[in-house]
Amino acid sequence: MTSETSPRSATDAAAHTATPALRMRGIRKTFPGTVALASVDLDVRRGEVHCLLGENGAGKSTLMKILAGSYLPNEGMIEIDGSPVQFQRPLDGINAGIAVIYQELDLFPDLTVAQNLFLGHSPASGGIVHRRARRRMAQSYLERVGATFSPDARVGELPIADQQLTAIARALTTDAKIIVMDEPTATLGEADVENVHRVIRRLIDENRAVIYISHRLDEVRDVGDRITVLRDGTNAAEYRVADTDAEQWIADMIGDKKSELTEHRERREAPGEPALEIEHVRIPGLLDVENITVHAGEIVGLAGLGGAGRTTLLSAVFGARSADASIRVRGKEVRIRSVRDAIRQRFGLVPESRKAQGLMLGLSVARNAGIAAIRGAGFFLPRERQHKRTTPILTDLAVKYASPHQEIRLLSGGNQQKVVLAKWLARDTQILLLDEPTRGLDIGAKADLYRQVRRLADQGAAVLVASSELNELMANADRIVVLHEGRSVGEFDPFTDTEEQISHAIISGKAA
Ligand SMILES: Nc1ncnc2c1ncn2[C@@H]1O[C@H](COP(=O)(O)OP(=O)(O)OP(=O)(O)O)[C@@H](O)[C@H]1O
Ligand SMILES: [Mg+2]
Repeated sequence: MTSETSPRSATDAAAHTATPALRMRGIRKTFPGTVALASVDLDVRRGEVHCLLGENGAGKSTLMKILAGSYLPNEGMIEIDGSPVQFQRPLDGINAGIAVIYQELDLFPDLTVAQNLFLGHSPASGGIVHRRARRRMAQSYLERVGATFSPDARVGELPIADQQLTAIARALTTDAKIIVMDEPTATLGEADVENVHRVIRRLIDENRAVIYISHRLDEVRDVGDRITVLRDGTNAAEYRVADTDAEQWIADMIGDKKSELTEHRERREAPGEPALEIEHVRIPGLLDVENITVHAGEIVGLAGLGGAGRTTLLSAVFGARSADASIRVRGKEVRIRSVRDAIRQRFGLVPESRKAQGLMLGLSVARNAGIAAIRGAGFFLPRERQHKRTTPILTDLAVKYASPHQEIRLLSGGNQQKVVLAKWLARDTQILLLDEPTRGLDIGAKADLYRQVRRLADQGAAVLVASSELNELMANADRIVVLHEGRSVGEFDPFTDTEEQISHAIISGKAA
Protein backbone atom coordinates (compact mmCIF):
# COMPACT_ATOMS: atom_id res chain seq x y z
CA MET A 1 0.00 0.00 0.00
CA THR A 2 1.17 3.51 -0.71
CA SER A 3 0.60 6.29 1.76
CA GLU A 4 -1.48 8.47 -0.52
CA THR A 5 -3.92 10.80 1.10
CA SER A 6 -7.51 10.72 0.04
CA PRO A 7 -8.66 13.87 -1.74
CA ARG A 8 -11.45 14.07 0.80
CA SER A 9 -9.07 14.63 3.65
CA ALA A 10 -6.48 16.54 1.66
CA THR A 11 -6.78 20.17 0.66
CA ASP A 12 -8.12 20.76 -2.82
CA ALA A 13 -4.72 21.92 -3.99
CA ALA A 14 -3.12 18.69 -2.88
CA ALA A 15 -5.88 16.70 -4.48
CA HIS A 16 -5.21 18.41 -7.79
CA THR A 17 -1.54 17.58 -7.79
CA ALA A 18 -1.95 13.95 -6.74
CA THR A 19 -1.56 11.44 -9.56
CA PRO A 20 -5.02 10.47 -10.66
CA ALA A 21 -6.01 6.84 -10.28
CA LEU A 22 -7.16 6.97 -13.88
CA ARG A 23 -6.37 9.18 -16.82
CA MET A 24 -7.97 8.58 -20.20
CA ARG A 25 -6.94 10.84 -23.07
CA GLY A 26 -8.34 11.29 -26.56
CA ILE A 27 -10.31 8.08 -26.54
CA ARG A 28 -11.96 7.41 -29.87
CA LYS A 29 -14.23 4.53 -30.78
CA THR A 30 -16.19 4.01 -33.94
CA PHE A 31 -18.61 1.30 -34.98
CA PRO A 32 -19.92 0.76 -38.50
CA GLY A 33 -22.15 3.78 -39.11
CA THR A 34 -21.54 5.32 -35.67
CA VAL A 35 -18.91 7.42 -33.97
CA ALA A 36 -19.60 6.37 -30.39
CA LEU A 37 -16.68 8.38 -28.97
CA ALA A 38 -15.06 11.12 -31.02
CA SER A 39 -12.37 12.01 -28.49
CA VAL A 40 -12.91 11.78 -24.77
CA ASP A 41 -10.80 12.59 -21.71
CA LEU A 42 -11.50 11.36 -18.21
CA ASP A 43 -9.64 11.91 -14.93
CA VAL A 44 -10.63 10.03 -11.82
CA ARG A 45 -8.97 10.29 -8.41
CA ARG A 46 -8.82 7.82 -5.62
CA GLY A 47 -11.37 8.37 -2.90
CA GLU A 48 -13.91 10.00 -5.17
CA VAL A 49 -17.20 9.07 -6.74
CA HIS A 50 -16.88 10.31 -10.27
CA CYS A 51 -20.21 10.50 -12.09
CA LEU A 52 -20.50 10.17 -15.84
CA LEU A 53 -23.52 11.99 -17.17
CA GLY A 54 -24.93 12.19 -20.67
CA GLU A 55 -27.96 11.50 -22.77
CA ASN A 56 -28.86 8.02 -23.97
CA GLY A 57 -26.25 7.11 -26.54
CA ALA A 58 -23.74 9.78 -25.45
CA GLY A 59 -21.03 7.14 -25.13
CA LYS A 60 -20.84 6.45 -21.38
CA SER A 61 -21.03 2.66 -21.52
CA THR A 62 -18.69 2.51 -24.50
CA LEU A 63 -16.05 4.50 -22.62
CA MET A 64 -16.33 2.13 -19.68
CA LYS A 65 -16.08 -0.93 -21.90
CA ILE A 66 -12.83 0.47 -23.24
CA LEU A 67 -11.60 1.03 -19.71
CA ALA A 68 -12.49 -2.56 -18.88
CA GLY A 69 -10.64 -3.94 -21.88
CA SER A 70 -13.75 -5.34 -23.55
CA TYR A 71 -13.45 -2.90 -26.47
CA LEU A 72 -10.23 -1.70 -28.07
CA PRO A 73 -10.24 2.05 -28.77
CA ASN A 74 -9.34 3.32 -32.24
CA GLU A 75 -7.20 5.99 -30.63
CA GLY A 76 -6.25 7.33 -27.23
CA MET A 77 -4.32 6.39 -24.15
CA ILE A 78 -5.06 5.17 -20.65
CA GLU A 79 -2.96 5.60 -17.49
CA ILE A 80 -3.57 3.84 -14.23
CA ASP A 81 -1.82 5.43 -11.24
CA GLY A 82 0.43 7.28 -13.66
CA SER A 83 1.52 4.29 -15.74
CA PRO A 84 0.32 3.78 -19.29
CA VAL A 85 -1.64 0.58 -19.89
CA GLN A 86 -2.92 -1.15 -22.99
CA PHE A 87 -5.72 -3.61 -22.49
CA GLN A 88 -6.30 -6.27 -25.10
CA ARG A 89 -8.99 -8.17 -23.26
CA PRO A 90 -11.14 -7.97 -20.13
CA LEU A 91 -8.69 -9.98 -18.06
CA ASP A 92 -6.09 -7.23 -18.51
CA GLY A 93 -8.49 -4.74 -17.01
CA ILE A 94 -9.25 -7.00 -14.06
CA ASN A 95 -5.54 -7.54 -13.42
CA ALA A 96 -4.98 -3.78 -13.45
CA GLY A 97 -7.56 -3.40 -10.69
CA ILE A 98 -10.64 -2.42 -12.65
CA ALA A 99 -14.03 -3.93 -11.99
CA VAL A 100 -17.07 -3.10 -14.07
CA ILE A 101 -20.67 -3.72 -13.24
CA TYR A 102 -22.24 -3.62 -16.67
CA GLN A 103 -25.54 -2.02 -17.51
CA GLU A 104 -26.65 -5.26 -19.10
CA LEU A 105 -25.69 -7.64 -16.31
CA ASP A 106 -23.33 -10.37 -17.46
CA LEU A 107 -24.24 -12.97 -14.88
CA PHE A 108 -24.82 -16.64 -15.60
CA PRO A 109 -28.48 -17.27 -14.84
CA ASP A 110 -28.13 -21.04 -14.49
CA LEU A 111 -25.37 -20.85 -11.92
CA THR A 112 -25.74 -20.06 -8.24
CA VAL A 113 -24.89 -16.73 -6.70
CA ALA A 114 -21.72 -18.17 -5.13
CA GLN A 115 -20.61 -19.68 -8.44
CA ASN A 116 -21.17 -16.38 -10.21
CA LEU A 117 -19.26 -14.47 -7.57
CA PHE A 118 -16.06 -16.44 -8.03
CA LEU A 119 -16.25 -17.41 -11.65
CA GLY A 120 -12.71 -17.43 -12.99
CA HIS A 121 -11.10 -17.02 -9.60
CA SER A 122 -12.60 -19.64 -7.31
CA PRO A 123 -11.05 -20.18 -3.93
CA ALA A 124 -9.47 -23.40 -5.14
CA SER A 125 -6.62 -25.60 -4.09
CA GLY A 126 -5.04 -28.07 -6.47
CA GLY A 127 -7.88 -27.41 -8.88
CA ILE A 128 -10.56 -28.43 -6.46
CA VAL A 129 -13.07 -25.80 -5.61
CA HIS A 130 -13.80 -25.78 -1.95
CA ARG A 131 -17.49 -25.42 -2.02
CA ARG A 132 -17.85 -24.62 1.65
CA ALA A 133 -15.13 -21.99 1.53
CA ARG A 134 -16.68 -20.48 -1.53
CA ARG A 135 -20.07 -20.39 0.10
CA ARG A 136 -18.68 -18.74 3.22
CA MET A 137 -16.83 -16.10 1.24
CA ALA A 138 -19.85 -15.50 -0.95
CA GLN A 139 -21.90 -14.96 2.16
CA SER A 140 -19.52 -12.30 3.42
CA TYR A 141 -19.54 -10.42 0.10
CA LEU A 142 -23.32 -10.57 0.01
CA GLU A 143 -23.42 -9.08 3.49
CA ARG A 144 -21.21 -6.25 2.35
CA VAL A 145 -23.77 -5.22 -0.23
CA GLY A 146 -26.65 -5.66 2.17
CA ALA A 147 -28.06 -8.67 0.33
CA THR A 148 -30.21 -11.08 2.29
CA PHE A 149 -30.66 -13.89 -0.23
CA SER A 150 -28.75 -17.16 -0.12
CA PRO A 151 -25.45 -17.74 -1.97
CA ASP A 152 -27.05 -20.99 -3.15
CA ALA A 153 -29.86 -19.23 -5.01
CA ARG A 154 -29.84 -19.66 -8.76
CA VAL A 155 -29.22 -16.21 -10.25
CA GLY A 156 -31.84 -16.56 -12.97
CA GLU A 157 -34.51 -17.10 -10.35
CA LEU A 158 -33.71 -13.97 -8.37
CA PRO A 159 -35.58 -10.70 -8.85
CA ILE A 160 -33.71 -8.11 -10.91
CA ALA A 161 -32.78 -6.08 -7.84
CA ASP A 162 -31.06 -9.09 -6.28
CA GLN A 163 -29.25 -9.89 -9.51
CA GLN A 164 -27.96 -6.33 -9.47
CA LEU A 165 -26.66 -6.79 -5.93
CA THR A 166 -25.02 -10.04 -7.03
CA ALA A 167 -23.20 -8.18 -9.80
CA ILE A 168 -22.01 -5.56 -7.33
CA ALA A 169 -20.86 -8.21 -4.88
CA ARG A 170 -18.96 -9.92 -7.68
CA ALA A 171 -17.16 -6.70 -8.56
CA LEU A 172 -15.95 -6.48 -4.96
CA THR A 173 -14.46 -9.98 -4.99
CA THR A 174 -11.57 -8.91 -7.24
CA ASP A 175 -10.43 -6.26 -4.78
CA ALA A 176 -10.42 -3.65 -7.53
CA LYS A 177 -9.20 -0.10 -7.01
CA ILE A 178 -11.41 1.40 -9.68
CA ILE A 179 -15.00 0.26 -9.64
CA VAL A 180 -17.34 1.19 -12.45
CA MET A 181 -21.08 1.02 -11.90
CA ASP A 182 -23.15 1.50 -15.04
CA GLU A 183 -26.66 2.41 -13.91
CA PRO A 184 -26.71 -0.02 -11.00
CA THR A 185 -29.82 1.55 -9.53
CA ALA A 186 -31.91 1.79 -12.70
CA THR A 187 -33.88 -1.28 -11.69
CA LEU A 188 -33.85 -0.80 -7.94
CA GLY A 189 -36.38 0.54 -5.45
CA GLU A 190 -35.53 3.09 -2.78
CA ALA A 191 -34.32 0.68 -0.09
CA ASP A 192 -31.98 -1.08 -2.49
CA VAL A 193 -30.71 2.24 -3.80
CA GLU A 194 -29.75 3.17 -0.25
CA ASN A 195 -27.90 -0.12 -0.01
CA VAL A 196 -25.88 0.60 -3.11
CA HIS A 197 -25.02 4.07 -1.83
CA ARG A 198 -23.83 2.58 1.42
CA VAL A 199 -21.57 0.18 -0.48
CA ILE A 200 -20.19 3.08 -2.50
CA ARG A 201 -19.40 5.13 0.60
CA ARG A 202 -17.56 2.20 2.07
CA LEU A 203 -15.49 1.78 -1.09
CA ILE A 204 -14.60 5.46 -0.95
CA ASP A 205 -13.58 5.17 2.68
CA GLU A 206 -11.20 2.45 1.55
CA ASN A 207 -9.69 5.02 -0.84
CA ARG A 208 -10.86 3.34 -4.00
CA ALA A 209 -12.31 5.22 -6.94
CA VAL A 210 -15.86 4.73 -8.10
CA ILE A 211 -17.10 5.72 -11.54
CA TYR A 212 -20.82 6.04 -11.39
CA ILE A 213 -23.33 6.27 -14.23
CA SER A 214 -26.93 7.21 -13.51
CA HIS A 215 -29.76 9.14 -15.07
CA ARG A 216 -31.21 9.89 -11.64
CA LEU A 217 -29.78 13.27 -10.86
CA ASP A 218 -30.89 13.34 -7.24
CA GLU A 219 -28.70 10.31 -6.80
CA VAL A 220 -25.72 12.04 -8.35
CA ARG A 221 -26.23 14.86 -5.89
CA ASP A 222 -26.33 12.34 -3.01
CA VAL A 223 -23.25 10.24 -3.76
CA GLY A 224 -21.23 12.10 -6.37
CA ASP A 225 -18.05 14.13 -5.80
CA ARG A 226 -17.24 15.13 -9.35
CA ILE A 227 -18.96 14.94 -12.71
CA THR A 228 -17.82 14.51 -16.28
CA VAL A 229 -20.56 15.24 -18.80
CA LEU A 230 -20.40 13.57 -22.21
CA ARG A 231 -22.32 14.81 -25.20
CA ASP A 232 -22.31 13.00 -28.55
CA GLY A 233 -19.06 11.24 -27.80
CA THR A 234 -17.16 14.31 -26.63
CA ASN A 235 -16.47 16.06 -23.31
CA ALA A 236 -19.10 18.68 -22.53
CA ALA A 237 -18.12 19.68 -18.98
CA GLU A 238 -16.36 18.69 -15.81
CA TYR A 239 -16.98 20.04 -12.32
CA ARG A 240 -17.45 19.27 -8.67
CA VAL A 241 -20.95 18.29 -7.63
CA ALA A 242 -20.87 20.82 -4.81
CA ASP A 243 -20.15 23.73 -7.17
CA THR A 244 -23.01 23.16 -9.59
CA ASP A 245 -26.67 22.25 -9.78
CA ALA A 246 -28.77 19.83 -11.77
CA GLU A 247 -29.91 22.58 -14.10
CA GLN A 248 -26.32 23.12 -15.16
CA TRP A 249 -25.79 19.39 -15.65
CA ILE A 250 -28.86 19.11 -17.84
CA ALA A 251 -27.85 22.12 -19.90
CA ASP A 252 -24.46 20.56 -20.54
CA MET A 253 -25.97 17.17 -21.37
CA ILE A 254 -28.40 18.43 -23.97
CA GLY A 255 -26.27 21.28 -25.32
CA ASP A 256 -28.08 23.71 -27.54
CA LYS A 257 -30.93 21.35 -28.31
CA LYS A 258 -33.95 23.34 -27.25
CA SER A 259 -35.71 20.28 -25.95
CA GLU A 260 -38.96 21.07 -24.19
CA LEU A 261 -38.38 19.38 -20.88
CA THR A 262 -41.43 20.66 -19.12
CA GLU A 263 -44.63 21.50 -20.80
CA HIS A 264 -47.33 23.76 -19.54
CA ARG A 265 -49.81 21.50 -17.88
CA GLU A 266 -53.50 22.01 -17.54
CA ARG A 267 -55.98 19.98 -15.62
CA ARG A 268 -57.90 17.70 -17.94
CA GLU A 269 -61.51 18.32 -17.08
CA ALA A 270 -64.22 15.85 -17.99
CA PRO A 271 -62.40 12.59 -18.55
CA GLY A 272 -64.13 10.05 -20.81
CA GLU A 273 -66.07 6.97 -19.84
CA PRO A 274 -64.53 4.55 -17.37
CA ALA A 275 -62.25 2.37 -19.49
CA LEU A 276 -60.75 0.18 -16.80
CA GLU A 277 -62.53 -0.46 -13.51
CA ILE A 278 -60.69 -2.61 -11.05
CA GLU A 279 -63.33 -3.62 -8.55
CA HIS A 280 -60.90 -5.85 -6.75
CA VAL A 281 -57.76 -7.84 -7.35
CA ARG A 282 -56.71 -10.25 -4.63
CA ILE A 283 -53.79 -12.59 -4.23
CA PRO A 284 -53.75 -14.09 -0.74
CA GLY A 285 -50.89 -12.74 1.34
CA LEU A 286 -49.74 -10.40 -1.41
CA LEU A 287 -52.37 -8.12 -2.78
CA ASP A 288 -55.77 -6.81 -1.83
CA VAL A 289 -56.56 -3.85 -4.02
CA GLU A 290 -60.01 -2.32 -4.54
CA ASN A 291 -61.67 0.36 -6.57
CA ILE A 292 -59.27 1.82 -9.03
CA THR A 293 -60.84 3.39 -12.09
CA VAL A 294 -59.05 4.75 -15.11
CA HIS A 295 -61.13 6.73 -17.59
CA ALA A 296 -60.53 6.96 -21.28
CA GLY A 297 -58.11 9.82 -21.85
CA GLU A 298 -56.71 9.64 -18.37
CA ILE A 299 -53.25 8.91 -16.98
CA VAL A 300 -53.42 7.49 -13.48
CA GLY A 301 -50.22 7.11 -11.49
CA LEU A 302 -49.50 4.20 -9.16
CA ALA A 303 -47.17 5.24 -6.35
CA GLY A 304 -45.71 3.13 -3.58
CA LEU A 305 -42.53 1.77 -2.11
CA GLY A 306 -40.74 -1.24 -3.58
CA GLY A 307 -42.85 -4.26 -2.64
CA ALA A 308 -46.04 -2.22 -2.28
CA GLY A 309 -47.62 -4.37 -4.97
CA ARG A 310 -47.53 -2.16 -8.05
CA THR A 311 -45.86 -4.69 -10.34
CA THR A 312 -48.00 -7.50 -8.95
CA LEU A 313 -51.16 -5.51 -9.57
CA LEU A 314 -50.22 -4.62 -13.12
CA SER A 315 -49.26 -8.15 -14.03
CA ALA A 316 -52.45 -9.53 -12.46
CA VAL A 317 -54.58 -7.07 -14.43
CA PHE A 318 -52.67 -8.08 -17.54
CA GLY A 319 -53.37 -11.77 -16.94
CA ALA A 320 -49.73 -12.61 -16.46
CA ARG A 321 -50.36 -13.66 -12.87
CA SER A 322 -53.37 -15.46 -11.54
CA ALA A 323 -55.49 -13.60 -9.05
CA ASP A 324 -59.04 -13.35 -7.82
CA ALA A 325 -60.06 -10.35 -9.86
CA SER A 326 -63.17 -8.46 -10.78
CA ILE A 327 -62.47 -6.11 -13.63
CA ARG A 328 -64.66 -4.18 -16.04
CA VAL A 329 -63.43 -2.94 -19.37
CA ARG A 330 -65.48 -0.18 -20.99
CA GLY A 331 -68.34 -1.03 -18.66
CA LYS A 332 -68.34 -4.78 -19.30
CA GLU A 333 -67.27 -7.40 -16.82
CA VAL A 334 -64.36 -9.31 -18.36
CA ARG A 335 -62.39 -12.34 -17.34
CA ILE A 336 -58.74 -12.05 -18.07
CA ARG A 337 -57.18 -15.43 -17.50
CA SER A 338 -54.14 -15.02 -19.67
CA VAL A 339 -52.04 -12.47 -21.43
CA ARG A 340 -53.81 -13.49 -24.64
CA ASP A 341 -57.14 -12.47 -23.11
CA ALA A 342 -55.63 -9.16 -22.09
CA ILE A 343 -54.23 -8.44 -25.52
CA ARG A 344 -57.61 -9.31 -27.03
CA GLN A 345 -59.12 -6.63 -24.79
CA ARG A 346 -56.48 -4.28 -26.22
CA PHE A 347 -54.40 -4.12 -23.09
CA GLY A 348 -50.68 -3.43 -23.30
CA LEU A 349 -48.09 -3.85 -20.58
CA VAL A 350 -44.59 -2.43 -20.58
CA PRO A 351 -42.99 -4.63 -17.95
CA GLU A 352 -40.47 -3.59 -15.35
CA SER A 353 -37.70 -5.90 -16.50
CA ARG A 354 -37.70 -4.94 -20.12
CA LYS A 355 -34.41 -6.56 -21.01
CA ALA A 356 -35.68 -9.95 -19.97
CA GLN A 357 -39.28 -9.70 -21.08
CA GLY A 358 -39.45 -7.06 -23.71
CA LEU A 359 -36.75 -7.54 -26.28
CA MET A 360 -35.32 -10.08 -28.66
CA LEU A 361 -31.72 -9.01 -28.60
CA GLY A 362 -30.64 -10.76 -31.79
CA LEU A 363 -33.35 -9.15 -33.91
CA SER A 364 -33.26 -5.78 -35.59
CA VAL A 365 -34.59 -2.53 -34.26
CA ALA A 366 -37.45 -2.62 -36.76
CA ARG A 367 -38.44 -6.20 -35.93
CA ASN A 368 -38.39 -5.53 -32.22
CA ALA A 369 -40.48 -2.42 -32.54
CA GLY A 370 -43.01 -4.21 -34.72
CA ILE A 371 -43.40 -7.50 -32.95
CA ALA A 372 -46.25 -8.19 -30.53
CA ALA A 373 -44.98 -8.10 -27.03
CA ILE A 374 -45.46 -11.51 -25.67
CA ARG A 375 -43.85 -14.60 -27.03
CA GLY A 376 -46.45 -17.18 -27.84
CA ALA A 377 -48.96 -14.48 -28.62
CA GLY A 378 -46.29 -13.05 -30.87
CA PHE A 379 -46.92 -12.32 -34.50
CA PHE A 380 -45.29 -10.19 -37.10
CA LEU A 381 -47.00 -7.44 -38.96
CA PRO A 382 -46.06 -7.25 -42.62
CA ARG A 383 -42.73 -5.48 -42.81
CA GLU A 384 -43.96 -2.42 -44.57
CA ARG A 385 -46.80 -1.76 -42.20
CA GLN A 386 -44.42 -2.37 -39.37
CA HIS A 387 -42.08 0.33 -40.62
CA LYS A 388 -44.84 2.79 -41.32
CA ARG A 389 -46.23 2.49 -37.85
CA THR A 390 -43.07 2.34 -35.83
CA THR A 391 -40.71 4.69 -37.62
CA PRO A 392 -42.49 7.91 -36.59
CA ILE A 393 -42.63 6.77 -33.00
CA LEU A 394 -38.96 5.84 -32.97
CA THR A 395 -38.34 9.34 -34.30
CA ASP A 396 -40.58 10.99 -31.71
CA LEU A 397 -38.77 9.15 -28.94
CA ALA A 398 -35.45 10.22 -30.50
CA VAL A 399 -34.17 6.64 -30.63
CA LYS A 400 -30.54 6.68 -31.68
CA TYR A 401 -29.77 3.86 -34.13
CA ALA A 402 -27.62 3.45 -37.20
CA SER A 403 -30.27 1.71 -39.32
CA PRO A 404 -33.61 -0.06 -38.76
CA HIS A 405 -31.81 -3.30 -39.57
CA GLN A 406 -29.26 -2.88 -36.81
CA GLU A 407 -29.43 -5.54 -34.12
CA ILE A 408 -31.06 -4.14 -31.04
CA ARG A 409 -28.35 -5.36 -28.69
CA LEU A 410 -25.99 -2.83 -30.30
CA LEU A 411 -28.10 0.11 -29.14
CA SER A 412 -27.27 1.93 -25.93
CA GLY A 413 -29.22 0.79 -22.87
CA GLY A 414 -31.62 3.70 -22.87
CA ASN A 415 -32.26 3.41 -26.57
CA GLN A 416 -33.18 -0.26 -26.21
CA GLN A 417 -35.78 0.74 -23.66
CA LYS A 418 -37.21 3.33 -25.97
CA VAL A 419 -37.77 0.60 -28.58
CA VAL A 420 -39.80 -1.48 -26.12
CA LEU A 421 -41.94 1.54 -25.38
CA ALA A 422 -42.29 2.32 -29.07
CA LYS A 423 -43.61 -1.15 -29.66
CA TRP A 424 -46.56 -0.62 -27.38
CA LEU A 425 -47.17 2.93 -28.38
CA ALA A 426 -47.34 1.79 -32.01
CA ARG A 427 -50.08 -0.71 -31.36
CA ASP A 428 -53.71 0.01 -31.05
CA THR A 429 -53.58 -0.18 -27.27
CA GLN A 430 -56.65 0.97 -25.40
CA ILE A 431 -55.51 0.24 -21.87
CA LEU A 432 -51.84 0.84 -21.40
CA LEU A 433 -50.11 -0.41 -18.28
CA LEU A 434 -46.62 0.95 -17.72
CA ASP A 435 -44.29 -0.34 -15.03
CA GLU A 436 -41.44 2.07 -14.31
CA PRO A 437 -41.30 3.22 -17.92
CA THR A 438 -38.59 5.85 -17.54
CA ARG A 439 -35.89 3.86 -15.81
CA GLY A 440 -32.66 4.21 -17.72
CA LEU A 441 -34.00 7.06 -19.85
CA ASP A 442 -32.27 10.41 -19.93
CA ILE A 443 -34.16 13.51 -18.96
CA GLY A 444 -35.12 14.52 -22.48
CA ALA A 445 -36.24 10.98 -23.29
CA LYS A 446 -38.48 10.98 -20.21
CA ALA A 447 -40.23 14.08 -21.45
CA ASP A 448 -40.53 12.55 -24.93
CA LEU A 449 -42.05 9.42 -23.46
CA TYR A 450 -44.72 11.21 -21.45
CA ARG A 451 -45.53 13.35 -24.45
CA GLN A 452 -46.21 10.13 -26.40
CA VAL A 453 -48.24 8.62 -23.59
CA ARG A 454 -50.30 11.79 -23.34
CA ARG A 455 -50.91 11.69 -27.05
CA LEU A 456 -52.18 8.13 -26.75
CA ALA A 457 -54.46 9.18 -23.88
CA ASP A 458 -55.75 12.09 -25.90
CA GLN A 459 -56.78 9.55 -28.53
CA GLY A 460 -58.89 7.82 -25.89
CA ALA A 461 -56.56 5.30 -24.26
CA ALA A 462 -56.57 4.75 -20.51
CA VAL A 463 -53.12 4.68 -18.92
CA LEU A 464 -52.05 3.26 -15.58
CA VAL A 465 -48.42 4.00 -14.82
CA ALA A 466 -46.38 2.76 -11.87
CA SER A 467 -43.35 4.82 -10.94
CA SER A 468 -41.05 5.16 -7.98
CA GLU A 469 -40.36 8.72 -8.93
CA LEU A 470 -43.11 10.73 -7.38
CA ASN A 471 -42.08 13.98 -9.05
CA GLU A 472 -42.60 12.30 -12.37
CA LEU A 473 -46.14 11.26 -11.44
CA MET A 474 -46.82 14.71 -10.01
CA ALA A 475 -45.86 16.21 -13.36
CA ASN A 476 -47.64 13.77 -15.64
CA ALA A 477 -50.51 11.92 -13.96
CA ASP A 478 -54.07 13.19 -13.70
CA ARG A 479 -54.59 11.29 -10.48
CA ILE A 480 -52.29 9.29 -8.24
CA VAL A 481 -53.26 6.09 -6.45
CA VAL A 482 -51.04 5.06 -3.56
CA LEU A 483 -50.42 1.42 -2.71
CA HIS A 484 -48.92 0.27 0.55
CA GLU A 485 -48.12 -3.32 1.44
CA GLY A 486 -50.46 -4.67 -1.18
CA ARG A 487 -53.42 -2.43 -0.39
CA SER A 488 -54.72 0.76 -1.89
CA VAL A 489 -54.28 3.58 0.58
CA GLY A 490 -56.08 6.33 -1.26
CA GLU A 491 -56.26 8.59 -4.22
CA PHE A 492 -54.54 11.93 -4.64
CA ASP A 493 -54.81 14.90 -6.91
CA PRO A 494 -51.44 16.17 -8.12
CA PHE A 495 -52.96 19.60 -8.71
CA THR A 496 -54.16 20.16 -5.16
CA ASP A 497 -52.35 17.63 -2.96
CA THR A 498 -48.72 18.24 -2.13
CA GLU A 499 -45.79 15.94 -2.74
CA GLU A 500 -45.32 15.78 1.05
CA GLN A 501 -48.87 14.54 1.62
CA ILE A 502 -48.48 11.84 -0.97
CA SER A 503 -45.02 10.81 0.27
CA HIS A 504 -46.47 10.48 3.69
CA ALA A 505 -49.15 8.12 2.42
CA ILE A 506 -46.57 6.12 0.48
CA ILE A 507 -44.44 5.61 3.55
CA SER A 508 -47.01 5.32 6.31
CA GLY A 509 -49.83 3.65 4.42
CA LYS A 510 -52.24 6.24 5.81
CA ALA A 511 -54.09 8.68 3.63
CA ALA A 512 -54.32 11.63 5.99
N1 LIG B 1 -21.21 -2.79 -30.31
C1 LIG B 1 -21.76 -1.72 -30.91
N2 LIG B 1 -22.00 -1.71 -32.24
C2 LIG B 1 -22.55 -0.65 -32.84
N3 LIG B 1 -22.87 0.50 -32.21
C3 LIG B 1 -22.64 0.57 -30.89
C4 LIG B 1 -22.09 -0.54 -30.16
N4 LIG B 1 -21.98 -0.18 -28.85
C5 LIG B 1 -22.47 1.08 -28.78
N5 LIG B 1 -22.85 1.53 -30.00
C6 LIG B 1 -23.39 2.88 -30.29
O1 LIG B 1 -22.56 3.84 -29.69
C7 LIG B 1 -23.32 4.93 -29.17
C8 LIG B 1 -22.98 5.13 -27.71
O2 LIG B 1 -23.55 4.07 -26.97
P1 LIG B 1 -23.35 3.88 -25.39
O3 LIG B 1 -23.93 2.55 -25.07
O4 LIG B 1 -21.96 4.14 -25.03
O5 LIG B 1 -24.29 5.05 -24.82
P2 LIG B 1 -24.63 5.42 -23.28
O6 LIG B 1 -24.13 6.80 -23.06
O7 LIG B 1 -24.15 4.36 -22.38
O8 LIG B 1 -26.23 5.49 -23.33
P3 LIG B 1 -27.37 4.98 -22.27
O9 LIG B 1 -27.59 6.09 -21.31
O10 LIG B 1 -28.60 4.82 -23.14
O11 LIG B 1 -26.94 3.70 -21.67
C9 LIG B 1 -24.77 4.59 -29.45
O12 LIG B 1 -25.17 5.25 -30.61
C10 LIG B 1 -24.75 3.09 -29.67
O13 LIG B 1 -25.79 2.66 -30.52
MG1 LIG C 1 -25.15 2.94 -21.22
